[in-house]
Amino acid sequence: MIVSHLIVKNWRNFRSVDVPLKERMFLIGPNASGKSNLLDVFRFLRDIAKPGGGLQQAVSQRGGLSKIRCLAARREPDVEISVQLADDGRTPSWEYSIGIKQQVRGYRQPYLAYERVRQGTQLILERPDAHDLKDELRRTQTHLEQINTNEQFREVAKFFESVLYLHLVPQLLRHPEAFVGPGVPDDPFGRNFLERVAKTPEKTRKSRLSKIEKALREAVPQLKNLRDTKDETGVPHLEALYEHWRPRAGLQREDQFSDGTLRLIGLFWALLEGDSPLLLEEPELSLHSAIVSRLPALISKLQRQRKRQVLISTHSFDLLSEKGIGGEEVLDLTPDQEGTVVHLASSIREVRDLLDAGLSPADAALPRTAPPGLDQLDLFANE
Ligand SMILES: Nc1ncnc2c1ncn2[C@@H]1O[C@H](COP(=O)(O)OP(=O)(O)O)[C@@H](O)[C@H]1O
Ligand SMILES: [Mg+2]
Repeated sequence: MIVSHLIVKNWRNFRSVDVPLKERMFLIGPNASGKSNLLDVFRFLRDIAKPGGGLQQAVSQRGGLSKIRCLAARREPDVEISVQLADDGRTPSWEYSIGIKQQVRGYRQPYLAYERVRQGTQLILERPDAHDLKDELRRTQTHLEQINTNEQFREVAKFFESVLYLHLVPQLLRHPEAFVGPGVPDDPFGRNFLERVAKTPEKTRKSRLSKIEKALREAVPQLKNLRDTKDETGVPHLEALYEHWRPRAGLQREDQFSDGTLRLIGLFWALLEGDSPLLLEEPELSLHSAIVSRLPALISKLQRQRKRQVLISTHSFDLLSEKGIGGEEVLDLTPDQEGTVVHLASSIREVRDLLDAGLSPADAALPRTAPPGLDQLDLFANE
């Protein structure tokens, strides 16, 4: 299942977004145009749906509704999210929508303006209902977050719950012990990655590692026999043979892998791990440009076995230089005084013309996202 359509209103730096989504989406835009904020919509739904989560926590984790609500909006409109979920990318099987308000007085708690669920064309939940009107407190919780009220749309709750956000920091993966403290919930940065690998049933684990090794071959041809292991103290590790000019290959552990290798392993693992949306922040970091340009193809190759939707924020020319990327797979974020506007690259006339003429999204769409003052920066650097 994928999120086939996204509508948000008054979310962070967006007044209004209304876009169809494909299995693979690239989010492009200048710094601070809201790429991470847009990905955060999906994390927000996950935070509501996950065990121990809920609407109150999801909002307070983000500093309250006043931090979430678009600053460019006049007065205090509802924050609204509506997503359609589809199996085949066409007819949506589910639609989940919420509007969120904030109490005017007292604790200023967030509460539901509405919550709606449709299955196909059938409306299966419409709130506020009679109970909500009798007991106002009910509106501080969604039905999505409660197992006794989401029975009829459990599939939707499970789907949101398993959204995965990935922003791997190789240093944390390599030296998890150096990073003490409460940590970030759900570990998007890979601190517990090795543990996750170790906890996976053996057959699945071996099959995934071997697929990863194959996919890695293009990027790091010297790396062979990727496998998991444990040290004397029971701490899980990854190791591989690293062939070099000396006659005997050396055994390397993950702390000796390069940043790029580690990020690729984490990324490929995530692609094989689930079938819910995967949110990827700038996967190009610390990778060689030749490998970055192969990533879209590798991603769709791994996607073929498992239909996991991938939403990728990127600045990378190389990543978008693949001609196989369609204009309807690229979301262009353009900052405006009233907030950032989001368009499919294919719906922007001049970009579509260039794509039709055979240019890659990198050539057709990426130049629009370059900061306007870049030439001046150049001058400055040359002084
Ligand atoms: N509620 C809000 N209203 C308006 N702008 C916001 C709000 N919350 C965050 N922002 C702005 O969004 C921008 C950050 O967007 P971000 O998603 O981090 O950009 P990117 O990932 O594209 O670099 C910042 O400029 C921040 O001030
Ligand atoms: Mg960002």
